[in-house]
Amino acid sequence: TKTSTIGLFGYGCVGQGFYKILQQSPNINASITKIVVKDKYKSRDLPVQHFYYQSSDILLDNDINTVVELIDDADAAYDIVKSALKLGKNVVSANKKLIAEHLDELIELAKEHQVAFLYEASVCASIPIIRNIEDYFKSDHIEGFQGICNGTTNYILSRTAQGLTYDKALLEAQDLGFAESDPTLDVDGFDAKYKLAILLKHAFGVGVKPQDVFNCGIRHIAPAHVNFANNRDSKLKLYSYAKQIEDKVIGFVAPFVVPKTHSNYNVENEFNAVNVNAEFAHEQFFQGRGAGSIPTASAVLSDIQALQTGYTYSYSLVNDNSFTNDFYLKIALS
Ligand code: HSE
Repeated sequence: TKTSTIGLFGYGCVGQGFYKILQQSPNINASITKIVVKDKYKSRDLPVQHFYYQSSDILLDNDINTVVELIDDADAAYDIVKSALKLGKNVVSANKKLIAEHLDELIELAKEHQVAFLYEASVCASIPIIRNIEDYFKSDHIEGFQGICNGTTNYILSRTAQGLTYDKALLEAQDLGFAESDPTLDVDGFDAKYKLAILLKHAFGVGVKPQDVFNCGIRHIAPAHVNFANNRDSKLKLYSYAKQIEDKVIGFVAPFVVPKTHSNYNVENEFNAVNVNAEFAHEQFFQGRGAGSIPTASAVLSDIQALQTGYTYSYSLVNDNSFTNDFYLKIALS
């Protein structure tokens, strides 16, 4: 195995979690030598000499062979990740917006510079869904999936079903470190859509631009909707939904009424789940914590471990399917 000398960008919720669990993992041959943060004056739980304030402090450090990018700002992350790949450094990122918007370009860059670009934490945090799709299902044929891919909205839906107000439930999700710093990304289904876009690439070989994918979040869900589901022995869940129909793949984010008989019915709070339907395996159900400091960091750590064995995604599926929104629009308009 290789040694990872890591430059860490960001020391927020996930960055701190990653730092902490890496210290608890002596079997992983990796160390964080520098942490670049934005705010010089924020008080932190590590001595100040750990922190640097310029991207170049990491990027131009030839001893650092691996960049872990865990910052909030997707545009700044784009510059960092691009530069790191071009400089021949492996990159691990959890930034779903960045990845959903620029995946094809970043894959090419990583290939060109013969480095790895891994991002398991970007989709459903602790659930190893990308690696399962990439590896286990490579010999199968995925026909569709129904994912609960956003912890904040699932938390809000769970808590409001117990009688809490929407605003209170959102505040709790923020306090617990589940929500994005701009929670509209969660509640309006954008975060779930970024994750859907990433999964579409791995499951079907389809590259979509997030702006071409329909998303409807949970902001407008009223007690009447909750009661509607309740009266039918069902619960509301925000789905990142994809299905292959002949040579086309459809995908969208929308609230679904999920019946008690479905495995997603019992997925509560910040838990995420993905039901994958495949030709040979039939239905498989993955469940785990989809947000939060340590669970998300566990996926980052797993990527570091995978890097050391020389793992890269194969992107073996060729894009011979086309993406369409027609199916959703047909349902919505009928
Ligand atoms: N805000 C995201 C969520 C964090 O609630 O799922 C994990 O991607």
